[in-house]
Amino acid sequence: MRIPVYDPLPEVEFLWPELEEAFRRVMRSGRYILGPEVEAFEEEVAQYLGVKHAIGVNSGTDALVIALRALGVGPGDEVITTPFTFFATAEAISLVGATPVFVDIDPRTFNINPDLIPSAITPRTKAILPVHLYGLPAEMDPILEIARSHGLKVLEDCAQAFGATHKGRKVGTLGDAGAFSFFPTKNLGGFGDGGLIATNSDEVAERARMLRAHGSRRKYYNEAVGYNSRLDALQAALLRVKLPRVDAWNEARRQVALRYNELLSDIPGLVLPEVSPGHVFHQYTVRIPGRRDEVQRALEAQGIGTMVYYPVPLHRLPVYAHMGFSLPQAERASEEVLSLPMGPALDAENLSRVREALWGALKGL
Ligand SMILES: Cc1ncc(COP(=O)(O)O)c(C=O)c1O
Repeated sequence: MRIPVYDPLPEVEFLWPELEEAFRRVMRSGRYILGPEVEAFEEEVAQYLGVKHAIGVNSGTDALVIALRALGVGPGDEVITTPFTFFATAEAISLVGATPVFVDIDPRTFNINPDLIPSAITPRTKAILPVHLYGLPAEMDPILEIARSHGLKVLEDCAQAFGATHKGRKVGTLGDAGAFSFFPTKNLGGFGDGGLIATNSDEVAERARMLRAHGSRRKYYNEAVGYNSRLDALQAALLRVKLPRVDAWNEARRQVALRYNELLSDIPGLVLPEVSPGHVFHQYTVRIPGRRDEVQRALEAQGIGTMVYYPVPLHRLPVYAHMGFSLPQAERASEEVLSLPMGPALDAENLSRVREALWGALKGL
């Protein structure tokens, strides 16, 4: 039996009767976009996160784009971010007409290195966009302090970190706004695209709601060029079934990570992640210096799925390469990282198969 890098089906099977009931409810309601299901989901997420406003949108990418615009980021502005993330993080900055300024990562956490942020600030800098990569919160204390002292906005990219906490507070509520994704593989994954913006600011929330609906607060009285980026009622209803389980599933992921760290500790040539508090292990990512691709092929041959998040740091992609950034830690990480199978339902047998395969590939070192 193949072990996929992530398998959404155990959650679906487990929740089937409730998902079916939510599906029927929406089908028979006659309301398929926004409406009471989305409002209820927004309220439940706001309560879960401990934030004043939650605004459902079409995708995590749209959540970033709309949040940036709602925060007043636009043409001519610079936004400081990490090069070691999914393309959408920087793409959103470019889409609003601003310029991403890439700052290297901390090799231990894979997240933006706050010590390097101050020297990247220019008179055009408008915001900092940290990413909580793999489910590990970025170092928010220094980031918020730098932002405060320079008058910058902070937008958190929480696509991979639903439910992650920083000193007991949920990510997405620490900065001026947070952007979440409900892409099916995420810790709170939908059944199609979906996303959400969280903010404590009434003004940002109002602008985000206006922008997601073609720039109108009142139908047909459009006041800005916005987007068609409304969350579907069906996604909201299905996500409402999953939301109450997300903490238990995140805890199960942490237990899988702890078990991996025990099982893999004696394998030569592997660098294991720290299981720090608040980490929700969207991915369990190891480093394999010098032999990553070879090990990935060996695992694949034994039916074990793995992924490289991400093989090219954003500043090396054709879109941004002309900017000439040189960011050695992100470049090195992109050559060494390998994400192993992860999910709340991974059992002991699966984990020992992964261990045996890694041991077989690396024992001769
Ligand atoms: C870090 C990060 N940012 C943004 C996104 C974009 O989210 P979506 O796919 O929902 O547009 C993703 C995931 O896909 C992501 O991993």
